[in-house]
Amino acid sequence: MKVLVTGGAGYVGGVSVDALLAAGHEVVVLDDLSTGHAGSVHPEARLVSGTYTDEEGTRHLLEREGVNAILHCAARSLVAESMANPARYYRENVAGGVALLEAARAAGVLRVVFSSSAATYGVPDATPITEDAPLRPINAYGETKRAFEGALRWYGAAYGLRSAILRYFNVAGATERLGEVHRPETHLIPNLLIAGEGGPALTLFGEDYPTPDGTPIRDYIHVADLADAHVAALVATDPSDARTGPVAGGPTEPVIANLGTSSGFSVRDVLREAEAVIGKPIPHTVGARRAGDPPVLVASNGRAREVLGWTARRSTLPEMIGSAWAWRRAHPEGYGD
Ligand code: UFG
Repeated sequence: MKVLVTGGAGYVGGVSVDALLAAGHEVVVLDDLSTGHAGSVHPEARLVSGTYTDEEGTRHLLEREGVNAILHCAARSLVAESMANPARYYRENVAGGVALLEAARAAGVLRVVFSSSAATYGVPDATPITEDAPLRPINAYGETKRAFEGALRWYGAAYGLRSAILRYFNVAGATERLGEVHRPETHLIPNLLIAGEGGPALTLFGEDYPTPDGTPIRDYIHVADLADAHVAALVATDPSDARTGPVAGGPTEPVIANLGTSSGFSVRDVLREAEAVIGKPIPHTVGARRAGDPPVLVASNGRAREVLGWTARRSTLPEMIGSAWAWRRAHPEGYGD
């Protein structure tokens, strides 16, 4: 099939593009390059510089390219920015997302896989979190992800759109070709490696959480495992596939699956593993809690296994941190942009 990947010049999108190509699919990348890297896009994918929020332009692109399905990875994704500037998040992630869906509907592309987030759950009542847990986001970013999930549901009911909603936990690691470069960098593992390379010391955001060592617990998932799940989910949106709707056509319900390993690690666990990977102590200090950080986020991943036939194959911290470290060492200039 031919897949349009929005945000395909980004970290998750880029690794997903490579996985789709490796599985024999054709790929068109739509990315405005505001946070993505043109140099990261696989040479066999066609890169179109533009935004999915442009309904007319996206419809023309879908028609011109004969796209069969959309993998929607592009979004604004900084929690702190979403609290300071919610309008930007509603405009792009929600209103822009609807523009993409309208373009898709007009072009007859009724298959969408969506990058959602554990941020939709907020502070869960129970761990591990199942997909049926209440969605009570505690930041504007998570709220916009929840809103777009709702749009997909109602497009399924109204137009028979087949969709899969993938709720990511903490994405980490690198492939040989692609690693994580964000500006600003806010994520734990890259910041640990930057500190280990002689950059600014890491600040641990709080040590007074109700967890065994006082630091927050997260479920880290390798970006290559995440990409595999996207390929499986896109396949599941085929009109002949009963997992995403009746084969005879008609109203559909999205497939919703968490993507995590179901294992939780504290910030101090990750610090210890990162020190083992790079072979020396990592300078760090303990600071205040960061607003909006839940104490524990760990996925139940049974749904992804049962419905998508997916399992995490690179699920240890040394594999995730080790691959991220190997990529940084092989690409000291990042993508050179
Ligand atoms: N942390 C630090 N110091 C840092 C960076 C992070 O101590 O410099 C801690 C955080 O407090 C958190 C953990 O490391 O406890 C992981 O933080 P990340 O920023 O790497 O990831 P988050 O868990 O905050 O973010 C992830 C996704 C977001 C999503 C969020 C939902 O990356 O997209 O989960 O809570 F919104």
